[in-house]
Amino acid sequence: MGRGSEMHGQCLFIIVFLIHSVHVLPGCIAQSSDEQTLLAFKAAISGDPNGVLDTWVTTKGSMNATDSICRWRGVSCQSRQHPGRVTALELMSSNLMGVISPSLSNLSFLHTLNLSGNRLTGGIPSELGQLPRIWVISLGGNSLIGNIPVSLTNCARLTHLELPRNGLHGEIPANFSNCRELRVFNISANSLSGGIPASFGSLSKLEFLGLHRSNLTGGIPPSLGNMSSLLAFDASENSNLGGSIPDTLGRLTKLNFLRLAFAGLGGAIPFSLYNISSLTVLDLGNNDLSGMLPPDFGITLPRIQFLNLYNCRLQGSIPPSIGNATKLRRIQLQSNGLQGIVPPDIGRLKDLDKLNLQFNQLEDKWDKDCPLMAALGNCSANGKSTRVSFAVFSIFEWHRHQVAR
Ligand SMILES: *[C@@H]1O[C@H](CO)[C@@H](O)[C@H](O)[C@H]1NC(C)=O
Ligand SMILES: *[C@@H]1O[C@H](CO)[C@@H](O)[C@H](O)[C@H]1NC(C)=O
Ligand SMILES: *[C@@H]1O[C@H](CO)[C@@H](O)[C@H](O)[C@H]1NC(C)=O
Ligand SMILES: *[C@@H]1O[C@H](CO)[C@@H](O)[C@H](O)[C@H]1NC(C)=O
Ligand SMILES: *[C@@H]1O[C@H](CO)[C@@H](O)[C@H](O)[C@H]1NC(C)=O
Ligand SMILES: *[C@@H]1O[C@H](CO)[C@@H](O)[C@H](O)[C@H]1NC(C)=O
Ligand SMILES: *[C@@H]1O[C@H](CO)[C@@H](O)[C@H](O)[C@H]1NC(C)=O
Ligand SMILES: *[C@@H]1O[C@H](CO)[C@@H](O)[C@H](O)[C@H]1NC(C)=O
Ligand SMILES: *[C@@H]1O[C@H](CO)[C@@H](O)[C@H](O)[C@H]1NC(C)=O
Ligand SMILES: *[C@@H]1O[C@H](CO)[C@@H](O)[C@H](O)[C@H]1NC(C)=O
Repeated sequence: MGRGSEMHGQCLFIIVFLIHSVHVLPGCIAQSSDEQTLLAFKAAISGDPNGVLDTWVTTKGSMNATDSICRWRGVSCQSRQHPGRVTALELMSSNLMGVISPSLSNLSFLHTLNLSGNRLTGGIPSELGQLPRIWVISLGGNSLIGNIPVSLTNCARLTHLELPRNGLHGEIPANFSNCRELRVFNISANSLSGGIPASFGSLSKLEFLGLHRSNLTGGIPPSLGNMSSLLAFDASENSNLGGSIPDTLGRLTKLNFLRLAFAGLGGAIPFSLYNISSLTVLDLGNNDLSGMLPPDFGITLPRIQFLNLYNCRLQGSIPPSIGNATKLRRIQLQSNGLQGIVPPDIGRLKDLDKLNLQFNQLEDKWDKDCPLMAALGNCSANGKSTRVSFAVFSIFEWHRHQVAR
């Protein structure tokens, strides 16, 4: 009995020892391979005028703390369970030139890769899709070309894919709908082709969808109304996007930024959009739309600050409820078919600093004694009294001019 438990104890000791060594040894080997990987990354950098990577010199296997790769500029090792393993590589706005080494895929503990705002060229290595723990891939503001690798859709944990302001081509892989954790997807300002995958509607955690000026076609899929966490959606300046604005977007009850300006959109502006009470920016300008401002829109959009519906073929009048939207700072309704009088309620908008109503059929009996003029004289930020510059008034583009009196 006693001997049995002693044996048992020895076995346990051996097993614990084995587990321990199995745990530690690959850690050591892997650490030096993280170093090899970083040095391979550095080797692919052809220009570093700021000397950002000067601290990246081989530690020659020395394991002392001052030599650790974890102290190299831009490198962090934040895993407690795997000390010495690289978890983040962040070298933003560092003027780095050259290409992104595919070897980065060997940083198996990497969760954040941010190389935004450099001068990197070449393609996005498809090997980055092999990073098993990656959350953030941020490569915006470089000169990257080629396609968005389909391999990046192997992304169980990916939360941020930020690739704006590059020269990327090809289509958006529809399989990004597999990336259930995605919160930010931004490919603005690239030269893509094809459309917005309808399957994106199932990205229920997505908060920011940036598709500005990316040459997309094929319309806005109605399924995007299912992105229940969406805070900001920008598909502006895709002049051939086309189609109409899906009524389902009105279901995006958290949305505060909606910008679809200059997107070749037709059809009517769905009334459901005026029900999104969280909206602070609504910009649908320069589209071949139609519609009217609902009578109560100033009440149903209590947070609206930027109302940009210029050149949208709006009909009808400007409802007095506009005066209830007291956060309004900018109203751009020029180049529409608006009629009737301009409600003096606009004078209640204390934060208003730009009002453009040019090129409509509004009643134009505006002189400095009319009620609207008098009311606008009261529009001022911070309660300071304001005087209107009447010269700009004649064409009815009004900017707040604070003339000290
Ligand atoms: C760690 O490495 C640095 C640089 O090689 C060296 O100067 C220092 O003496 C080493 N420290 C220890 C404790 O070995
Ligand atoms: C990753 O590391 C292994 C082992 O060092 C190497 O053979 C392989 O080429 C590396 N992968 C890349 C993409 O560099
Ligand atoms: C990456 O860096 C850029 C530039 O500093 C920054 O704007 C962006 O928010 C960063 N991305 C993430 C996910 O932190
Ligand atoms: C990605 O999409 C392609 C077709 O577009 C499909 O063959 C493939 O199975 C998809 N991959 C995953 C992981 O869903
Ligand atoms: C824009 O997309 C179209 C196809 O949708 C393609 O023919 C054209 O080359 C793209 N333009 C640019 C500048 O990438
Ligand atoms: C996309 O990225 C650009 C450039 O960094 C940024 O200005 C824009 O706000 C982003 N769009 C969204 C919807 O987050
Ligand atoms: C998403 O939206 C589409 C169209 O609006 C709808 O048919 C579908 O049932 C919705 N739900 C899911 C999970 O896609
Ligand atoms: C706006 O919301 C109200 C209240 O929830 C609802 O009755 C109405 O049908 C909605 N209008 C549109 C156009 O979605
Ligand atoms: C809208 O403004 C009018 C005029 O000041 C006011 O009488 C009304 O109570 C306001 N409505 C709401 C819902 O705030
Ligand atoms: C402008 O403000 C003054 C002082 O608050 C007020 O007496 C006046 O009625 C206001 N004028 C208009 C047109 O709202």
